[in-house]
Amino acid sequence: MTAESERLRSALAADLDRARARTATLTEAVDDDDLVRQHSRLMSPLVWDLAHIGNQEELWLVRDVGGREPVRRDIDELYDAFQHARADRPALPLLGPAEARAYVSTVRDKALDVLGAVRLDGRPLVADGFAFGMIVQHEQQHDETMLATHQLRVGAPVLQADPPPPARVSAAGEVFIPGGPFTMGTDTEAWALDNERPAHVVDVPAFHLDVAPVTNARYAEFIDAGGYDDARWWSEEGWAYRHKAGLGAPLHWRRDGGDWVYTRFGRTARVAGDEPVVHVCFHEAQAFASWAGRRLPTEAEWEKAARHDPVSGRSRRYPWGDEDPQERHANLGQRHLSPAAAGAYPDGVSPHGVHQLIGDVWEWTSTDFHGYPGFRAFPYREYSEVFFGPEYKVLRGGSFGTDRSACRGTFRNWDYPIRRQIFAGFRCARDAEPGESA
Ligand code: AVJ
Ligand code: FE
Repeated sequence: MTAESERLRSALAADLDRARARTATLTEAVDDDDLVRQHSRLMSPLVWDLAHIGNQEELWLVRDVGGREPVRRDIDELYDAFQHARADRPALPLLGPAEARAYVSTVRDKALDVLGAVRLDGRPLVADGFAFGMIVQHEQQHDETMLATHQLRVGAPVLQADPPPPARVSAAGEVFIPGGPFTMGTDTEAWALDNERPAHVVDVPAFHLDVAPVTNARYAEFIDAGGYDDARWWSEEGWAYRHKAGLGAPLHWRRDGGDWVYTRFGRTARVAGDEPVVHVCFHEAQAFASWAGRRLPTEAEWEKAARHDPVSGRSRRYPWGDEDPQERHANLGQRHLSPAAAGAYPDGVSPHGVHQLIGDVWEWTSTDFHGYPGFRAFPYREYSEVFFGPEYKVLRGGSFGTDRSACRGTFRNWDYPIRRQIFAGFRCARDAEPGESA
């Protein structure tokens, strides 16, 4: 084996380890009752996520890449996300907590054995370690999902973390982003999933974009101004949902005298005015933007703001350049259990002067989830393609609960426009005036 392939193997093993340590934190923080309980009909029991993580790893790394015998072929159907809706999963004959832990650990041993033996320069599935990177990202995505389940769980706090850094600079107002083409998506990012490919040129007209995500203080002004009771600001679909669901504030907010308080991972505190708002659905984001005389950015606008370097004309991997995310760049990876104040990450700013595009909160865009021109499903249609269509909106940038391995300038997330349990906020944009320039 070459030194280069050795380095790749040990980096992949370290990423698999890091994901598993996070999975352990999330699943060992609660007792067995809490692991098998359904904390919300929107979520699976944590013990389902745990065994599903192992089952995907078995399917792709042990059986497909490794060509090894199945560990537990009999449970494939139970952990196939398309066979059973989340609400129905608690009633299934799932592996119990001890069985699930033993299962994922057996699978991991075999997967590491495969990693030590397989050529990483063969077919596309294994080239540059892609299948291993895909499984690392899959586990981290479910870890973020389990973190959202923790947020919905009722009871004493069980997760600990340091508070995020405070604001270091002002991140108010908006920036002007000149019109013109940029390269969206990627052909070169090793772990990019199928929906991020291929790279293609998009001409984005000039626009203005908020320097930071919309804060709690600003969002509270919308509430105080009667924004939830004024149909003018809502789409027809959003207004209907606002009534059906009785929306009146972000999920987890409640009034306490004259203040807003929220309960976060079991701890109740006054809503922090300078933090990005989180736990709002697409419809609330869109209504806020209309009330403010603005709109949500398109997905292409978001990516141009995050990746376009006006000096070289090139699209970079992240707002700060091509370097992998470091702690100073962005609030990622569950290092903190909340978004950081606007202005807390000056080292992560983009060339156009936009802050916190990566980390803190997923950002709703106005764009429906579709494949890019030339899209090809890889390695399976059920990752992205089956979700393409107008029912899903694209979210960008990752949250405080997103790991760096599953977050980059090209990464695309999606969800129904009514979903609020994810760590989603937004920022606003507006069209430039004809002929306007910086
Ligand atoms: C990309 C976050 C929408 O959780 O449904 C996990 C990721 N795909 N297992 C999801 C995913 C298969 C997916 N999202
Ligand atoms: Fe999954």
